[in-house]
Amino acid sequence: MRYIVANWKAHKNLAETQDWIETFIGLLKKDAKTSAKLRDKKITIIICPSHHLIYPTKQQLKEIPNLFIGAQDVSFFEKGSYTGEVPAQNIRELVDFVILGHSERRKYFKETNNVIDQKTILALEHGLKPIVCARNPQDLVPQGVEFVAYEPVFAIGTGENESLDEVLRMKRSLHLDPSTKFLYGGSVDEKNITSYASSEIGGFLVGTASKDPHAFYKMTTLL
Ligand code: PGA
Repeated sequence: MRYIVANWKAHKNLAETQDWIETFIGLLKKDAKTSAKLRDKKITIIICPSHHLIYPTKQQLKEIPNLFIGAQDVSFFEKGSYTGEVPAQNIRELVDFVILGHSERRKYFKETNNVIDQKTILALEHGLKPIVCARNPQDLVPQGVEFVAYEPVFAIGTGENESLDEVLRMKRSLHLDPSTKFLYGGSVDEKNITSYASSEIGGFLVGTASKDPHAFYKMTTLL
């Protein structure tokens, strides 16, 4: 089983999302082999739109087997008077996964390991599966996390992906439980994804290349 996660970040509006979905469904419908891989749970797709696009994305992709929706973040708080926040408790009917600790959250929103710990606790408590991102071995992975994505900052959105050897070195230095699914993210695209064909890499967290349904579909076929 390999995972491919689309992190759309803050790129899409509703019309762009609908176009993406229509194109992606069209490509999959013509591809019996990839559809069978999804049905047989050989691959899992996780789409992470911005919060405002979660519901329409979920509705329109609900017929695709083994495709799940994830959020890009959840609140540090439980539900309550926190204007603008989206707590795990309120989003859990809509998503199965949540990306936590992405380096952009750490950089622009000053999220610390403590904040990420707290968000992880709330996400797990409300039945969400956190995909915790680590930039390096200092980014501690909270307990109970099943999905960890190694995302070195130099590789994010730059076109300079990390080599397989370095990715595996990072995996070893994180000392993860053997059952943890270890993903790599950082300029993964349809040209380099096959260079990570190692049983130790559980899948990919894809930003830039996930914005284009053709590129994302192609990557899915190469898993
Ligand atoms: P990228 O982004 O694929 O554009 O490098 C990955 C990420 O930030 O999750």
